Amino acid sequence: MSGRFAGKVALVTGASGVVGRAAALAYAREGAAVLVAGRDDARLAEVVKLIEESGGRAGAFRVDITRSDEVAAMVHAAVSRYGRLDVALNAAGIFGTLAPLADYDEDTWDEVLAVNLKGVYLSMKHEIAHMRAHGGGTVVNVSSNLGAHWRLAGASAYAASKAAVSSLTRAAARDHIADGVRVNAISPGPIDTPMSARPGETREERDERMKDALPIGRVATPEEIAAAALWLSSPDSSFVVGADHVIDGGATA
Ligand SMILES: NC(=O)c1ccc[n+]([C@@H]2O[C@H](COP(=O)([O-])OP(=O)(O)OC[C@H]3O[C@@H](n4cnc5c(N)ncnc54)[C@H](OP(=O)(O)O)[C@@H]3O)[C@@H](O)[C@H]2O)c1
Repeated sequence: MSGRFAGKVALVTGASGVVGRAAALAYAREGAAVLVAGRDDARLAEVVKLIEESGGRAGAFRVDITRSDEVAAMVHAAVSRYGRLDVALNAAGIFGTLAPLADYDEDTWDEVLAVNLKGVYLSMKHEIAHMRAHGGGTVVNVSSNLGAHWRLAGASAYAASKAAVSSLTRAAARDHIADGVRVNAISPGPIDTPMSARPGETREERDERMKDALPIGRVATPEEIAAAALWLSSPDSSFVVGADHVIDGGATA
């Protein structure tokens, strides 16, 4: 296979989800062998099948990213199956619920912070430890414009966790660029996935709401977000370090 990632190995967390899946397919199209990670075996198997059917190489790994031992095993699996790890995209994340802070359920708060923040910390910890010992690599974290860049009433846990991911990305980038590991984030606005719909809202109702909320008049496609992640993972962005690229159709312009 030819392409920007020919001969490279990519690891994608959240690959059983919409954005991770689009990115995994894109890395494979551009030549990478891809380890797709998540919790839903059936959806991971579907992504692997799609990649293999189009001539690419992929394998699935079940992981709970809040558990350090499982995340370490995920990195080990990428290396033992494909011989190396060059690229990591940390796309796993959850939204939690919408509720005013004083009413926000504590268990939900803990879960959102565990997945979105500790999960990204653990993913980076194990990915970077391997990359710095083996010639470097690139890491891209999927944050959100809802956090460091934009606010939405009722989304305190999600916004706090994603603002922290944006900040953690910069910290990791400074800590590890001298090791040859380039770390960046993307902060998307609403994407065409179930996560951008309010409880009970249909896709059409969501699209109608977004027409006015977003200057561009529509939500992003998963492929538009994947394209930005691939750029930040590739040598095309070789001087970009610790960036948090907002990709939100002008919401925060
Ligand atoms: N959709 C949006 O509008 C939007 C906007 C800005 C940012 N984002 C961010 O983009 C990323 C992808 O979102 P999406 O819309 O593609 O969501 P999605 O379809 O719900 O996918 C979320 C992914 O995260 C995985 N995940 C959740 N908890 C996990 C855990 N404990 N361990 C391992 N994997 C876990 C899920 O795995 P399983 O399904 O296998 O459990 C799934 O693969 C998220 O970080 C999200 O915050 C989304």
